[in-house]
Amino acid sequence: MAENDLMRQMAAFEESALAALENARDEAALAQWRTANLGKSAFIMQIFSQLGTVPKTERPQIGQTANQVRVRLEEALELRMNQLKKKALAESLKNEKIDVTLPGRHPYRGRLHPATQNMREILAVLSQIGFEIFRSPEVETDEYNFELLNIPAYHPARDMWDTFYTTDPGVLLRTHTSPGQIHAMKLFAPESIRVALPGMCFRYEQVSMRSEIQFNQIELLAVGKNITFGDLKGTLQEFAYRMFGNNVRTRFRPSYFPFTEPSAEMDVECFLCAGKGCSMCKNSGWLEILGCGMVHPTVLKNGGYDPNVYSGYAAGMGPERITILRHYVEDIRYFWGNDIRFLEQF
Ligand code: PHE
Repeated sequence: MAENDLMRQMAAFEESALAALENARDEAALAQWRTANLGKSAFIMQIFSQLGTVPKTERPQIGQTANQVRVRLEEALELRMNQLKKKALAESLKNEKIDVTLPGRHPYRGRLHPATQNMREILAVLSQIGFEIFRSPEVETDEYNFELLNIPAYHPARDMWDTFYTTDPGVLLRTHTSPGQIHAMKLFAPESIRVALPGMCFRYEQVSMRSEIQFNQIELLAVGKNITFGDLKGTLQEFAYRMFGNNVRTRFRPSYFPFTEPSAEMDVECFLCAGKGCSMCKNSGWLEILGCGMVHPTVLKNGGYDPNVYSGYAAGMGPERITILRHYVEDIRYFWGNDIRFLEQF
C-alpha cells in the first residue's frame, strides 16, 4: 500500500514538474525549476535520502523508479534548455540583422596642430637656406634671458619682456628664444655658426587678438667673420620669397633691441590687398613679421667671440603671427584655445 502510494506520488510529481518546465521561458526560470525539482530538498531527491526507512523488499522498486524519474526530468530540462537557446538565437538573428552592404564608418584621423605644421614648414625653409636647428630650454635664468643679452636689471627694456618667475630666485620662463643665442655661441665659439632656434616663449601681459601669454618663436643666429647687414637682409628676403612667394616685397624699418645694433623690423607686403591697404594690414599695406639686427658686440663677447674679429646677425619671428597672416585667422588665441572646430581646418 505504502509502495503504491509512493509510486503514485512520484508519477504525480513528475507530471507536474514537466508541466512547470513547459512554462519556464528563460534561463532564470529554468534555474529556479531545477532547484525546486532536482535540488536537494526536491521531493524526488528526498526519496533517495530516505530510502533507508523503506522496507527492504520495496527498496529496489522505489529506488529504481525514483532514479528513472530523476533521469527523465534531467533530460527534459536539457531539452528545454536547448529549445530556449535555439529560440533566443533565432530571435536575435531576426531582430539584429546586420546589413553588410552598409558603408563603414570612417575612422577619425588625427593631425598635427596648426602651430606645429607651421613651425615645421618654416624650419624646412630655413634648413634649405643653411640653418641648423638648435634647441634650448624654456626655463631660463635671469642671466641668460636678460643679463647676457645686454638687458641689465632695472633697464626699461625689461618692460617689453615681462615674464613668469619661479619660486627659485633668478629662474624664469623665457620671454623669447634669444637666450638660445648665448647657449649656441658658448657651445660653438670660436667656430662660425648658423642656427635656427625654435620653441615656446612666455610673457606676462594682457592677452589680446594679436598676443598671447605663450607662443612660439623662431630665432635665427649667424656668427662668423665678415658677416654684414647685407647678409642679414639678403637671407631674410630669400626666406620671405620661399615662405610667401617669389614676388613678395619686403621692407626694413629701423628699430631697437638691446642685443642688436643696428636693429630693424622686417615687413612683408600685405598679401590680402597686395599692398593697397586693408583691415588686415591696418591700411598700411605692410605686415610686420620679425625683429632683427646685427648681434651687439657685448652679446658676442658674452657668447665667447671677439667682436673685433667676429660679427653676426640675429632675427626673431613669431610663427603663429605668420600663420594668422597666411590663413587670415582673426584671433591668435585660437591656437591654444583647443577648439576642435578651429583645429580641424588645418
Ligand atoms: N627677441 C626679440 C623679441 O622677442 C626678437 C629679436 C630677436 C630681435 C633677434 C632681434 C634679434 O622681441
